[in-house]
Amino acid sequence: MEPLILKGSEIAKNLREQIKEEVRTLKEQYGLIPGLVTILVGENPASVSYVTAKQRVAKELGFYSVQENLPEDISEKTLLDLIEKYNQDPSIHGILVQLPLPKHIDEKKVICAINPKKDVDGFHPFNLGRLVMGHPTFIPCTPYGILFLLKEADIEVEGKEVVIIGRSNIVGKPLALLLMQKLKPVGNATVTVCHTATKDLAFHTKRADILIVAAGRPKFISGDMVKEGVVVIDVGVNRIGTTPEGKPILCGDVDFESVKQKASVITPVPGGVGPMTITMLMKNTLEAAKASQG
Ligand code: GUN
Repeated sequence: MEPLILKGSEIAKNLREQIKEEVRTLKEQYGLIPGLVTILVGENPASVSYVTAKQRVAKELGFYSVQENLPEDISEKTLLDLIEKYNQDPSIHGILVQLPLPKHIDEKKVICAINPKKDVDGFHPFNLGRLVMGHPTFIPCTPYGILFLLKEADIEVEGKEVVIIGRSNIVGKPLALLLMQKLKPVGNATVTVCHTATKDLAFHTKRADILIVAAGRPKFISGDMVKEGVVVIDVGVNRIGTTPEGKPILCGDVDFESVKQKASVITPVPGGVGPMTITMLMKNTLEAAKASQG
């Protein structure tokens, strides 16, 4: 049977309409405009394209948005000072520093410098701690987008074997914590996290009712590694070439053609998790703006 192709782009579109409407109401009733600053250090092509997309969507939804482009060799101190400037700026409710950062900058220090109330990525230890305790304020955007996708597609999670490939602070770790929590409608799963030191990866992936792949390796998961009827969420965005017009050719961490023969549900790349991540950033920024009013 053909699988359901779970298009994040369509679910994101509906959610963006709702956010846009709420932004309009906030503006009319309270004169409040959610403000987001995105800070990009250097010119990593993937980071440039993510930040550009975040800025475009912020503007489309009626946010006040600021883009800071800093040179690759900027000092850590200059970056920390800039973050502090936006911590103090009442027109800015969300601060996003695009990761990864150049090696001479301490990522932990940068994340810790962001006021937790403006940490719309949910990466600050205060916000991660709340998430671990089961009371998140800001859920990191990619895990949040995946939870939203699963909920919208009515995918039963409770009691299911969820296998996550990847243990990053941005995706795998927070997602595992969220899916194992005793939360409805998306939680209460049995979660396995696989990573580069996992010995027999296929043993784990074949057991998965829901397989979430954030490995950062193109077409890493093939059809022979999954069971019939699996739900597959592909977080990977890999650039495997460029078109004659100079546009990047993207593929996921999942070999879509072979895995879709067995899956009951599968997300495409592009148009799957990516648009959800950006939309959840807008949702977090909107929530930060509302919370700023006391
Ligand atoms: N780099 C890759 N994903 C993300 C994300 O969600 N937030 C930030 N700040 N950087 C990223």
